Amino acid sequence: MPLNIIIGAQWGDEGKGHITDRLAHDAAIVARYSGGDNAGHTVAIAGEFFRLHLIPSGIIHPGVVCLIGNGTVVNPAVLLREIDDLAARGVDVSPSRLKLSGGAHLITPGHIAMDKAHEKSRGAEAIGTTMRGIGPAYTDKARREGLRAELFADSEALAAALQAHVALKNAALVGGYGEEPLDAAVMAAEFAGYARRLAPYLVDGPLLVDEALRHGQMVLAEGAQGTLLDIDHGTYPFVTSSSPTAGGAMTGLGVGPRMVDRVIGVAKAFTTRVGSGPFPTELSGEAAVRLRGTGEKPWDEFGTTTGRPRRVGWLDLPILRHARRINSLSEWVLTKLDILSGLPEIPVCVAYELDGRRVESFPHDLASLARCRPIYESLPGWEEDIMGVRRPSDLPDAARRYVAFVADSTGTPVTFVSVGPGREQFIEMI
Ligand code: IMP
Repeated sequence: MPLNIIIGAQWGDEGKGHITDRLAHDAAIVARYSGGDNAGHTVAIAGEFFRLHLIPSGIIHPGVVCLIGNGTVVNPAVLLREIDDLAARGVDVSPSRLKLSGGAHLITPGHIAMDKAHEKSRGAEAIGTTMRGIGPAYTDKARREGLRAELFADSEALAAALQAHVALKNAALVGGYGEEPLDAAVMAAEFAGYARRLAPYLVDGPLLVDEALRHGQMVLAEGAQGTLLDIDHGTYPFVTSSSPTAGGAMTGLGVGPRMVDRVIGVAKAFTTRVGSGPFPTELSGEAAVRLRGTGEKPWDEFGTTTGRPRRVGWLDLPILRHARRINSLSEWVLTKLDILSGLPEIPVCVAYELDGRRVESFPHDLASLARCRPIYESLPGWEEDIMGVRRPSDLPDAARRYVAFVADSTGTPVTFVSVGPGREQFIEMI
């Protein structure tokens, strides 16, 4: 049983946590390989909503080991809050079930202060980050000035690393941005407390994954964010600072591509994005509210991490073809099909018009993307409520046709469709 990877095909928030939870019961390990608490994964079980930012969605399954891999950036305060919240709800989050790879990088209050100061300094050009310190933590990693979780096992090395870190951050915060300095002693005391609690969770992540794979067990790599937020293959610079794509699972977990079996692309039946940047099929006004919801329901389109209303638009096939190519997808999971019920017809963007030409592929540069106009094909809608449907044959014809259209237009089968937030609200298509 090899490595299976779950990837977001759009700009994040596709419902990866939901399908990870569904597939986790066959896995020995569920691992996060990139990103940090900028992610927000919602899993609904028996009407109870679990909102996870750092801990893999597999944690809800007893018996599954959850790993926070080398490629992630971890705010220890957030991780401990999540551990405490889950424990209070009766979930086993002991070190026998949750593992933190020593090579994961730490996010400090210095990174968060830098994220805020940098966004403020960009003014109208702001990326619209989640302000969780993600970019600055990855910047320090690439500058070889980062703090790795393994420091939690060595209190002297941790204290020394923090002192150097605060000096560097203060130089940038005060000198570069005119912000207040951080207090090194306060941060040292805070992190000494985190180290005491988190040291028992430390492991060699790549070794743990290798052992499982060599014993024929399945490892599920849970993507965070999405293909269009990838630092290399997304809508740069309006991206996150890591590699949420399939390649990121290789470096983030320390596994080679020969171990990979399925690469599962998760796509919403329409499109959403948070933060700035071009969005060809974006809707406004009433049509947008129809897809977004009003925020009353936990699954309405408002950020799990920031609470921001998400920008919404019709399904965009050039984006899905891009995701299929970048990730070598083996299949699709199409989520939130139920949200489209009741629409008389459903426009789907099949290509773009760019400078008078029809293009089928997603442009590689942002300036071209900003000039793309969607070319729509309208598919018939359906009236029926499909939230209770569990078999493909019980779907209305038009809904089945919508799913088949996605598969045919991308040359990739749809294996699951989700029709609601509940654990059981999936239709297995094949
Ligand atoms: P950062 O990851 O906080 O640096 O934010 C960079 C961009 O990625 C912003 O547009 C964020 O809104 C977006 N982003 C980061 N994480 C997520 C996510 O989990 N879902 C959706 N958008 C995200």
